[in-house]
Amino acid sequence: MPTISERDKEVIWHPYTNMKVWPEAIAIVKGEGLYLVDENGNRYMDAISSWWVNLHGHAHPYIAEKVSKQLTELEHCIFAGFTHEPAVRLAERLLEILPAGMKKIFYSDNGSTAVEVSLKMALQYWKNKGIEKKKIIAIQNAYHGDTFGAMSVSGRSVFTEAFTGQLFEVEFIPFPGNQDSSMESIAILERILQGGDVAAFIAEPIVQGSAGMQMYDADTLEIYFRLCKNYKAIIIADEVMTGFGRTGPLFACDYIQTLPDIICLSKGLTGGAMPLGVTAATQDIFEAFYDDDKMKTLYHGHSFTGNPTICAAALASLDLLQQDSCTESRKRIIQSHARFAMTIADDPLVADVRQTGTILAIEISTDAPSYHSSLRDVMYRFFLDKKIIMRPLGNIIYILPPYCITDEELGYIYGCIKELLREISR
Ligand SMILES: Cc1ncc(COP(=O)(O)O)c(C=O)c1O
Repeated sequence: MPTISERDKEVIWHPYTNMKVWPEAIAIVKGEGLYLVDENGNRYMDAISSWWVNLHGHAHPYIAEKVSKQLTELEHCIFAGFTHEPAVRLAERLLEILPAGMKKIFYSDNGSTAVEVSLKMALQYWKNKGIEKKKIIAIQNAYHGDTFGAMSVSGRSVFTEAFTGQLFEVEFIPFPGNQDSSMESIAILERILQGGDVAAFIAEPIVQGSAGMQMYDADTLEIYFRLCKNYKAIIIADEVMTGFGRTGPLFACDYIQTLPDIICLSKGLTGGAMPLGVTAATQDIFEAFYDDDKMKTLYHGHSFTGNPTICAAALASLDLLQQDSCTESRKRIIQSHARFAMTIADDPLVADVRQTGTILAIEISTDAPSYHSSLRDVMYRFFLDKKIIMRPLGNIIYILPPYCITDEELGYIYGCIKELLREISR
């Protein structure tokens, strides 16, 4: 009997995977809290929450129960001209916890579509008002997704290389990595805004995920947003990765006072159980589309928009997220990361160790820090051997765990990181 992994090789084309050079995929047959169990019985710690989506552990019985119940009541229904309790309730609950000012929830399917919708909202907002503003500003090396609009506002990289020339033009400001680059970045943002033709500014607040968990301070974000307000450019906060407690508070925008106009959500929204995208907007954005003129409609939707089963998963995840025990777990992870970071900060192989909330990133010194570096593959395999799922971003390893992880499990991962540092230094 061929294994699942062997059968996979015949029929599956995996994401971000060079199918020729990469060995066969590990077949997972079960999820259990922090662990993913493969067809040979190996148990892997999911230190990166399966691409940053899982909040409460795999196959969570509470989410499963709510989803199962919803499936027997209403599994799906068209969302234009019809609505249902799970979608309405989820919108109500999200608006209660999102940064102030959000008034309407638009559903889509994932992080990329949440971003696509935000860009369409922003561009059409100005068109509907009869104002010529089309320019979009983003931050260098950002990652906002793999659809064409989302790629256009993302940094030009290996992800976008094949589509050079087919992405729309975007002005990129430097990443605010330190005080000097922050000042330069702010100055460039202001200069572009002064042109008066900027439709929107999009940013991953506080942490740029795919760029290598690059972190910047909340003061800079505050200044960016304030400048955009002054020059009347729409602010899009892409909280697809940072949302739902990853950076400490529920949303990274909670670190600052100036409010965005649009917020994109996905990943942790359903606790990682099902795909869902949300684009939240202020009343002002919504009202630019609220008109008798049918040409002012936001003509965007997906077959599964507002799917009730997925909304039920998101509602269940919110129940878990809002329990005191979850808040306590996040605090515990944050403290634990901080203690560990201190123990490796002076290691000669550690070029940088940084933390925001439950996200800990360690940059390993190397002469070749590229996404395709061989060090990356060495580290990936090292952790797999230790039964830890870790996908280094080039020379950067990071822990972004489900909130159910225990101190002991964190301790094991930290221990393996120290062992990796010893091995590389040999
Ligand atoms: C900040 C950010 N925006 C958007 C996306 C795209 O989300 P998805 O992979 O669900 O399309 C990602 C994915 O990593 C992300 O980190």
